[in-house]
Amino acid sequence: MEILRTKVKDLLQMKAGSEVLAKGWVRTKRGNKEIAFIALNDGSTIKNVQVVVDKNEKTEAQLSKISTGACIGVRGQLVESVGSGQAVEIHASELEIFGECDPMRYPLQKKDTSFEYLRTVAHMRPRTNTFGAVLRLRSQMAYAIHEYFHSKGFVYLNTPLITASDCEGAGQMFQVTTLDLNNVPKNKKGQPDFTKDFFGKQTSLTVSGQLEGELGATALGEIYTFGPTFRAENSNTPRHLAEFWMIEPEMAFYDIKDNMDLAEDFIKHLVKYALDNCYDDIQFLNDRYDPELIDRLKSVIGTDFVRLEYTEGIKILEEAIKNGVQFEYPVYWGVDLQSEHERYLVEKHFNKPVILTGYPKDIKAFYMKQNEDGKTVRAMDVLFPKIGEIIGGSEREADLAKLEARIDELQMSRKNLEWYVDTRRFGSCPHSGFGLGFERLLLFVTGMQNIRDVIPFPRTPKNAEY
Ligand code: 4AD
Ligand code: MG
Repeated sequence: MEILRTKVKDLLQMKAGSEVLAKGWVRTKRGNKEIAFIALNDGSTIKNVQVVVDKNEKTEAQLSKISTGACIGVRGQLVESVGSGQAVEIHASELEIFGECDPMRYPLQKKDTSFEYLRTVAHMRPRTNTFGAVLRLRSQMAYAIHEYFHSKGFVYLNTPLITASDCEGAGQMFQVTTLDLNNVPKNKKGQPDFTKDFFGKQTSLTVSGQLEGELGATALGEIYTFGPTFRAENSNTPRHLAEFWMIEPEMAFYDIKDNMDLAEDFIKHLVKYALDNCYDDIQFLNDRYDPELIDRLKSVIGTDFVRLEYTEGIKILEEAIKNGVQFEYPVYWGVDLQSEHERYLVEKHFNKPVILTGYPKDIKAFYMKQNEDGKTVRAMDVLFPKIGEIIGGSEREADLAKLEARIDELQMSRKNLEWYVDTRRFGSCPHSGFGLGFERLLLFVTGMQNIRDVIPFPRTPKNAEY
């Protein structure tokens, strides 16, 4: 009689007694003369199901071909387990080998399972316990993000990946072109002639969906984007990727305070969702690598984030320096804070997340709402323990004249931004938004140390494997 395959996650919840069929990859095989034990994992859970195989002529021949990494099917009786650490195990009556796995060549057979080594075999690392846990958490978090915004009536807006505008103005864009690089057409000034390019103008991969997001918010009220963004900054740090995912809500009629309230509620909701729905995976990561992980997650849910003016933050850092704290980078009013400064405020001074606001306008993007002092803008960065900046956002400049003046001041191209400025020309409204770096969130939720280890196939300088 044919029976349907049951996933390991579901098997482990079942009562002993029924006939089951499991399929998956062998984690380990051990045994003695009479009996073999196989730990089988199919990716549905961090947990393995133990398979017990009685040795006879037929199974011995099969077992000789089954090693770590092999893909097999097991049919048998689900029985109560005495020693496997689970309530049930499978007593096999039939084995099927789908794919053998050469122990001499299998890259995960090696003793070296450091994250550095695993990055060199990133095509195989999803098969490890750790990356299984991380990738399941990543998927669950994506689901929770959509669920959160849908429950609040936000519209999911897809913004373009190829764009002719530079949202952040930091000059970190990847060019997109179909021009022949060996024979670039030139204009009269001797510069590349982009009118001959695919889109008839110079284009790049987007650094942010915000500008188009604002078009959506000023029509639909509340939107969010969730997609890949690209930055060609040459930062080889544990917190930067060249291709990362960002969630960008944008809301009409929100001021900076509403924006902060949403950001805080959003992050707390996601962390709580992870604890409520992914506990097995989090517990694994906690026990294996980061014994404070669960406490850290719980503490964020249970605490009010500090809200602090940039100017006050600088005073705290200057005071710290007076008291002997040493930073690599200088601290003065006007400076763009480094991760070491952010982490000092969060981890040492306040010991909880901080939302820093009122930044100097010169270190922030052109679209931020200017304060009456003429010096600062209604920016907000959410700073997290172990991570530093996890969210960047602001209230937007809704005043047409002020926005245009700022665009000119920064010598940005008005022509390229006419469509954006139209939102201020026609029915302008107060509005705000922010961007959450998805991988930064995952660093926090998983406790992983390096951002390359929370995305399946990382893109970083000099690395675009697979
Ligand atoms: O602070 P950023 O540059 O803000 C924006 O792009 C705004 N347009 C967002 C908005 O208001 N809609 O980036 C937002 C977040 C950062 O706080 C960080 O979490 C993440 O994106 N981020 C990166 N994550 C990984 N690798 C990088 N290179 C990142 N750069 C930014
Ligand atoms: Mg930022």
